[in-house]
Amino acid sequence: MRVNTSEVIKRRYNRISSIYEVMDKMIKDTWRLNLLSQVSGEVLEVGIGTGTNLLYYPKHIHSLTGVDFSSGMLNHANEKVKRGNFPYPIELIDADIQNLPFPDNTFDSIVSTCVFCSVPDPIKGLKEIRRVCKPTGKIYMLEHMRSENKIIGLTMNVLNPLTVRLWGANINRETLRNIETSEIRIDNSISLMGSIFRQLILSPNKNK
Ligand SMILES: C[S@@+](CC[C@H](N)C(=O)[O-])C[C@H]1O[C@@H](n2cnc3c(N)ncnc32)[C@H](O)[C@@H]1O
Repeated sequence: MRVNTSEVIKRRYNRISSIYEVMDKMIKDTWRLNLLSQVSGEVLEVGIGTGTNLLYYPKHIHSLTGVDFSSGMLNHANEKVKRGNFPYPIELIDADIQNLPFPDNTFDSIVSTCVFCSVPDPIKGLKEIRRVCKPTGKIYMLEHMRSENKIIGLTMNVLNPLTVRLWGANINRETLRNIETSEIRIDNSISLMGSIFRQLILSPNKNK
């Protein structure tokens, strides 16, 4: 029987959604704040999860649309939206990053934090965010990826099946290469944890 990877990952996030925030301390608050203070206009956050980033968006953005394919994670984000008093409209949508329900060139800023390690087909997902980003827009990421250190990289390859099984995240994704394959331009890359964790500012590169 053919395994539907998206369904497996979705179920895994549904299962861990109630303990996700206690478990996941990988991204420092200051990293989120530095990244999100740069976004503006109509913002799309892909893989919004439990909505941790909601604390950090600047008040002046026009709107925020959050998508995630795990209803369990989205329930927690919805609670935060109800409790918070946000000065901009927020819409949360149950959708797959690999097939976004938006027309081309919709958003000024697109955000992903710790998401492309678990999107089943990362290149398909990256091409989708490029498609829905305005030609003048920017893509803002905090993502972990395979180390450039040979030994650490090989160790990550060995451990990867275990991390995928436990929490649905690949630790050996070649995210920089995937970004380039998706015809997205890397404007700025800051290493936050050696070559494993980076802040990335990207352009959809549509006016080549
Ligand atoms: C590691 S969590 C990160 C959540 C949040 N961005 C954060 O910084 O805390 C990854 C999230 O991406 C979502 N995700 C992974 N692949 C997805 C896909 N193809 N479509 C929509 N959401 C996806 C998962 O459901 C999960 O909520």
